[in-house]
Amino acid sequence: MEKLLIEGGAPLKGRVKISGAKNAVLPIIAATLLGEEKESVLEEVPGLCDVKTISEIIESVGAKVRYNAENETLTVDATNLIATEAPTDLVRKMRASFLIIGPLLTRYGKAKISLPGGCAIGTRPIDLHLKGFEALGAKIEIGHGFISVTAPNGLVGNRIYLDFPSVGATENILMAAATAKGETYLENPAEEPEIVDLANFLNVMGAKIRGAGTNLIKITGVERLRGENYTIIPDRIEAGTYMLAAAMTKGDVFIENAIREHLKPVIAKLKDAGASLEESINGIRVYASGDLKSVDIKTMPYPGFPTDMQAQFMAMLAISKGKGQVIETVFENRFMHVEELRRMGANITVNERCAEVVGVEKLKASRVKATDLRAGAAMVLAALVADGVTEITALHHIDRGYHNLVEKLISLGAKIKRIEE
Ligand code: UD1
Repeated sequence: MEKLLIEGGAPLKGRVKISGAKNAVLPIIAATLLGEEKESVLEEVPGLCDVKTISEIIESVGAKVRYNAENETLTVDATNLIATEAPTDLVRKMRASFLIIGPLLTRYGKAKISLPGGCAIGTRPIDLHLKGFEALGAKIEIGHGFISVTAPNGLVGNRIYLDFPSVGATENILMAAATAKGETYLENPAEEPEIVDLANFLNVMGAKIRGAGTNLIKITGVERLRGENYTIIPDRIEAGTYMLAAAMTKGDVFIENAIREHLKPVIAKLKDAGASLEESINGIRVYASGDLKSVDIKTMPYPGFPTDMQAQFMAMLAISKGKGQVIETVFENRFMHVEELRRMGANITVNERCAEVVGVEKLKASRVKATDLRAGAAMVLAALVADGVTEITALHHIDRGYHNLVEKLISLGAKIKRIEE
């Protein structure tokens, strides 16, 4: 078993380059399945475990995938696919595997998949994805842990209202509607930058999608799409995590590639907490000297405060002066990091979806687990400021979303190593 050993106390200083966004690249890799002619070449593709998993999933239906780790380029040839069903063991690894349904359904009129896995943060149903497929004319059958979606006569555009702006459902519907007959209007879709990135890629492939990033998306179905070249946007959650690392360690870090428009709530809350930020065209500098102050946060769909930064902010509040409130509205069970932070001496009380964090003078090193991806990031942040050497296990969660974490932190002066037990 591998673990991270982190000795707290070193202020992080220097420059860190943010990788391509995990949550943009996963749907975009799924969308390459729509390329009936030519291969797609994706750039800024981070070498993450989730990227490997989705690559294996699209390979299992016949796509030819090559990853060049040196220049972070992924090439997909999906011109000749051989199957519309993905193997259960791969699908169970990652919830985003459900994203291959939209492209397979619209291209072949059918797709079958086992119920998807992923981080254990709430029940995470897929009813909105299915509602979208049904509205486009598909038939859904569920049984024995599988979901089968069929549309033998093809999909037809429709008006679809999402009860909640689900990121995954919006992406699946965008892909399915891209080659449906006629027009689809998607009301109350997710507005995340990753949705815009997917729509931009689909448009480069020949789709006609307007309004991605707003609360109404219009998709005019086209006959077919072709593979194309595309560069993935930088990861706003990775950027946000390093911003907090800089502020918490009283360091000074330039976060290269961080896009300010994607990070407005994180920037605002960090400023409220007393960190200094300088925003420029190619990144954001974050520095802090004095103690941080507590702030309140409430997670919301974009452009609200991102749920994927909630755990990391809780780690920051654990050492900030005063009392801060954290309300999680997106997922119903996303406080698993609380128990781990408490092991390090954090003072946190939870009442349903609301946590109250009273800042302590110092966290103390302990043995903790990465209970999910962002919870793992929170443990790393806490360890960077704790007294002593913290051990973090269950690193497979962190590997899903942080490219070269150890190397990047070492380059900023952190005392961190990854060892085999
Ligand atoms: C995506 C992100 C994840 C992020 C989340 C919210 C990827 C690969 N993952 O996940 O990192 O935390 O957005 O920003 O992009 N829901 C339903 N029915 C559905 C679908 C979702 O009720 O059919 C609920 C979920 O249970 C959850 C909420 O909607 O409570 C948000 O889910 P969703 O936006 O779909 O998140 P994901 O796409 O799974």
